[in-house]
Amino acid sequence: MKRSRNSLPFRISLVFLLSTLLIEGVLFLLLYHTLLGERVVEEINRLESRAESHASVLAMNFSEETIDHVATMESETDTKVAITDPTHHLLQTSRFFPQVLADTVDSKKQTGPFDDTTVLEDDWENEPYLSVRTPITDDTDRRYGYVYMFLPTEIIHGISHRLQWRFLYITAIALVTTVLTFILLSRLISKPIQSLKQATENVLTNPDDLRLPTNRVDEIGELARAIESMSVELSRLRRERRQFLSDLSHEIKTPLTYLRGYAEIASKESTPESLRKQSIQTILDESRSLTELVENAFQLAQLDENTFLLHREEVTVTTFCADLRRMLDTMFRMTTVHFDAAPNAGQQDIALTLDRHRMLQVFRSIAHNAIEHSEASHVSLRSNVTDTHLILTITDNGKGIPEKDLPHIFDRLYRVEKSRSRQTGGSGLGLAIADQIVNRHGGELTVTSDASGTSFTIMLPLDKKTPIL
Ligand SMILES: Nc1ncnc2c1ncn2[C@@H]1O[C@H](COP(=O)(O)OP(=O)(O)OP(=O)(O)O)[C@@H](O)[C@H]1O
Ligand SMILES: [Mg+2]
Repeated sequence: MKRSRNSLPFRISLVFLLSTLLIEGVLFLLLYHTLLGERVVEEINRLESRAESHASVLAMNFSEETIDHVATMESETDTKVAITDPTHHLLQTSRFFPQVLADTVDSKKQTGPFDDTTVLEDDWENEPYLSVRTPITDDTDRRYGYVYMFLPTEIIHGISHRLQWRFLYITAIALVTTVLTFILLSRLISKPIQSLKQATENVLTNPDDLRLPTNRVDEIGELARAIESMSVELSRLRRERRQFLSDLSHEIKTPLTYLRGYAEIASKESTPESLRKQSIQTILDESRSLTELVENAFQLAQLDENTFLLHREEVTVTTFCADLRRMLDTMFRMTTVHFDAAPNAGQQDIALTLDRHRMLQVFRSIAHNAIEHSEASHVSLRSNVTDTHLILTITDNGKGIPEKDLPHIFDRLYRVEKSRSRQTGGSGLGLAIADQIVNRHGGELTVTSDASGTSFTIMLPLDKKTPIL
């Protein structure tokens, strides 16, 4: 019950009911007072004019016959009449003249003015009769008496009752409409929201069995579509994570097998000294690459969780490019690969904000791949500055990456050479990490490759503020 009182349809219906009743109440009060007020004034005017016309007839001929005639005439109507002498003593009344009216005549005899038509009673709500009095006076101002006229207020009470009943009908109609609105709103809003809620709860446990009103064209449809795409994304992430974990455990198992095998060889008494040394060297190499793999996996997990801290600093394009060239020069000097870096193109003294250490790691990873996997004899670095970006391209003239592998090389643990040999074997995480780091900087890492070599392009956004001079 508490829940349905807090429900959206209930609240909307309540607002609907209250506003309907408020409008209806205001209209009723307006109508009630205007209509009844006007009716009372109208009835009193009629009463006055009838009293005056009787008075003028009686003034012309104030005889018993005329008095009887007036009284008989009024006996046919709702109104009552009383004709008195100048001292307010009753001379004649209409038929069925109640005692209460005789008492009224008596009680009002002191109430002036007497020379004009006077409204003696207009309180229709509390008194049984409206009453007026008019003097019977001829042209010479001779006073023959008075005409008292009475109108029962029950006619006006009748109108008032009818209005009150109508108000009750309308209230009942408003209540029924509210109940219908509540039912309709429940169908239109509450049920779909309930099912959305249910579906959202199921997203984690049963994402493939989502039944959502995605074809609705309203806000609920929009919400359903948003939940659906969120669930698709969630499923994809979960699938990827499952895949990554199973690939990773496979990757770890292989070096562990090597480690155990070589450790067994090294620990045997009978193993010749040279083989023992070689085994220990292999154990060292394998444990180093295992450590690297675990560190890389940890870095990726941090990148996924957004807990990978970037220590951003502001550097100029010139400084960063000089650092980069120095690092790559040192790396390639240890190899037979020839490296060249063209002078920077474009405006140089623009600032960019980045984690220098991490960004150099990206380039180290790409250069390392060129050395390890490309069989290239030459690698070059080109840089260019546009209005918004610093664009750096590393190109090798190696064997290239097969077209079918190209879309996957940023995937985790993906290697073109599936066999894991000591010369070419990496963890397959280098480019995945590089891609994430560039993304976290708001940049973009892309690759193009064919049989004549591979090019990696990194676009980094420049600071929007004024250049450092
Ligand atoms: N310049 C390149 N030329 C040819 N193949 C490349 C080049 N760069 C990358 N590759 C291919 O892409 C794969 C993925 O590279 P990535 O750096 O992600 O992994 P890895 O180098 O194998 O391992 P790690 O970098 O984690 O030690 C590599 O295994 C390699 O097959
Ligand atoms: Mg690599």
